Amino acid sequence: MPTATKPRKSGKNKKSTKYTAKTADKHELYQLSVQNVEAEIDFVDETYTALRGRPAQTVREDFCGTAASACEWVKRRDTNKAVGVDLDGPTLEWGRTHNLNQLPENAQSRVTLLQKDVRDPGPEGTGVDVVLAMNFSYWIFITRDAIRNYFKSVLDTLDDDGIFICDFYGGSDTMTEQEEVRKISKHLTYVWDQRKYNPITGDMECRIHFKFPDGTQMRDAFIYEWRLWTLPEIRELLGEAGFEDVTVYWEGTDPDDEEEGNGEFTPTLQGEADPAFICYIVSQKKKRGS
Ligand SMILES: C[S@@+](CC[C@H](N)C(=O)[O-])C[C@H]1O[C@@H](n2cnc3c(N)ncnc32)[C@H](O)[C@@H]1O
Repeated sequence: MPTATKPRKSGKNKKSTKYTAKTADKHELYQLSVQNVEAEIDFVDETYTALRGRPAQTVREDFCGTAASACEWVKRRDTNKAVGVDLDGPTLEWGRTHNLNQLPENAQSRVTLLQKDVRDPGPEGTGVDVVLAMNFSYWIFITRDAIRNYFKSVLDTLDDDGIFICDFYGGSDTMTEQEEVRKISKHLTYVWDQRKYNPITGDMECRIHFKFPDGTQMRDAFIYEWRLWTLPEIRELLGEAGFEDVTVYWEGTDPDDEEEGNGEFTPTLQGEADPAFICYIVSQKKKRGS
């Protein structure tokens, strides 16, 4: 799977199983270490309802990988539908077995997985209320034209009331070559490896490794080759693609620890010079409400 992620500050760890490099499953470890689909889908649901005065029904998860967010979305309401789009067949298959097939039958039937390029999701991925692109996956587009064209294709495939939500990782730490080691549970340690960064082109290479208590490691479980975009560039490119409103939702500070976020994201034009932040960008096809 060619993209990567920093664990969310507010992420939850769900399970405490014994792992070793030989037997561990990299997709399971990724879901445990990186993703927090409950919080992500809370944000999607609350934001769409706040902007449109009614809940969203259909969410398309671009770069869906194992489709964890799509599955979380259909769990929330019996009327919810989701479309997951990813190029990688084996990763989609893992998601079908471990995420989709674990849902009740009535929820399974409301998820469609498409093995397609996100720039051409086809009729089944068109007319949706929300498109999601999470864990910075859209940074695989490394030229202004390529990323603008992706944003244009998102715009064209949204319903008129539709919104596009992506996340963004920024701050001075992103421009350094460093490893961040995070203990996920007593059985699992996650390593986010910012392996290479070229300040001339913005090219960056990041990797994910996992370490286990028996001393074994799963090196290079995921490798990502991205352009490190800045937030002003992405805001401008979303506007150039035709979104009428592009708003950053910035995370508040944990009252007990000013180094940590509180998991609450609110719209603002005033950020802070945090060395490592994650925020959401919410882009409305047609600006309505606030
Ligand atoms: C890091 S995974 C994202 C997983 C999940 N969405 C998340 O939030 O953690 C990135 C995924 O993007 C997929 N991908 C890369 N380029 C793509 C493209 N042009 N169209 C569709 N999927 C693509 C890869 O196959 C990979 O599964």
